[in-house]
Amino acid sequence: MRTQVGIIGSGPSGLLLSQLLHLQGIDTVVLERRTQEYVLGRIRAGVLEQGAVDMLREAKVADRLDREGLVHDGFDIAFGGRRHRIDLRKHTGKAVTVYGQTEITKDLMDARAAAGGNLVYEAENVQIEDLDCGTPKLTYTKGGENHEVVCDFIAGCDGFRGISRRTIPDNILKTHERVYPFGWLGILADTRPVSDELIYVNHWRGFALCSMRSPTRSRYYIQCAFDENLEEWTDDRIWDELRVRLPDAAAESIEMGPSIEKSIAPLRSFVAEPMRFGRLFLAGDAAHIVPPTGAKGLNLAASDIHYLSQALIAHYAEGGRMDLIERYSENCLRRIWKAERFSWWMTNLLHKFPDQNSFDQGVQRAELDYLTESEAAQAALAENYVGLPY
Ligand code: APR
Ligand code: PHB
Repeated sequence: MRTQVGIIGSGPSGLLLSQLLHLQGIDTVVLERRTQEYVLGRIRAGVLEQGAVDMLREAKVADRLDREGLVHDGFDIAFGGRRHRIDLRKHTGKAVTVYGQTEITKDLMDARAAAGGNLVYEAENVQIEDLDCGTPKLTYTKGGENHEVVCDFIAGCDGFRGISRRTIPDNILKTHERVYPFGWLGILADTRPVSDELIYVNHWRGFALCSMRSPTRSRYYIQCAFDENLEEWTDDRIWDELRVRLPDAAAESIEMGPSIEKSIAPLRSFVAEPMRFGRLFLAGDAAHIVPPTGAKGLNLAASDIHYLSQALIAHYAEGGRMDLIERYSENCLRRIWKAERFSWWMTNLLHKFPDQNSFDQGVQRAELDYLTESEAAQAALAENYVGLPY
């Protein structure tokens, strides 16, 4: 098989890239190791920056998002039993949109299927070969048969545990990482959200977050030990712990119900550079991970795909133009590091660290007090939360 851009991974990064290139007449093949159902079954993030919404509209997959997405002009930070609203619209003139990643993935899959896109699910043992020549290739097996896809370029959109990052030689790839000493236990329930906007909670027992997927579907998280056993967290125990950590009014009004999904996720900050090696590009979680506190994971994938799609479209439309391809990694990493900083800062602001001493606790409380007292501090938080410019 021959294509212009071979894409590994059919998560948001791979699907969005495939759709944007298709709209410009650029041929792609997407190789995904899992089934479509498995990919859609993963419960992930839910807050979109305006930049990501704009990308989905550019990709012509935003009709349902525009109908069902919940536009939020602000969110609350709660500590010491009180809630303090961060007014995003006042400080930035922008908002964020709450719309589950699962829905985005479904909208993109539907669009690619409608356009007859070449998406191969259950592609096993995908390998990258001949990267050092002008026509690299992807090989894979499916149903016991061997296949190869000869490409002009390869986009590694295969997430944190994919193969593309590992293809970059160790003497070239540099990685930077911080692993946090806790995890997030998430619960999804068909209950009315406790608040119209998100509530981020700093509590002495640990962080909590009240989010949602729709006016009838809630999403909650509580900080837990990174090695917690999910089996030991019954629904009742989760609801009880949430109610302890929430401010009184929210704790009293929260609607509880059976979980439709429960999971524990570790928290890590991670950056791999460079994000290009010859004709191989890394995008999304393949190149970086953020703790979910700042809701940046999906939004960074969107900005990576903005830079990558622009570079590839310019290459094909302007006689092999290479400058945007050569600047791809630098352009992405400048924005990625700012989002990494913000996500790290917000995680330190809101979580209980096992090794925190009384000084650390004093600094954390002072940071929270300063935030609630300073318009400038709130504006800085707001402009990072709505998303820095591409
Ligand atoms: N071969 C083929 N497919 C692979 C391989 C492989 N060797 N390794 C991984 N994949 C697939 C995974 O099954 C997954 O469907 O690549 C896809 C990567 O998707 P994501 O992990 O969702 O990464 P990305 O598309 O960059 O989206 C980033 O997803 O994880 C969240 O918080 C993250 O919101 C962010 C978003
Ligand atoms: C979510 O709704 O899943 C969510 C929202 C905000 C975050 C993280 C996760 O910061």
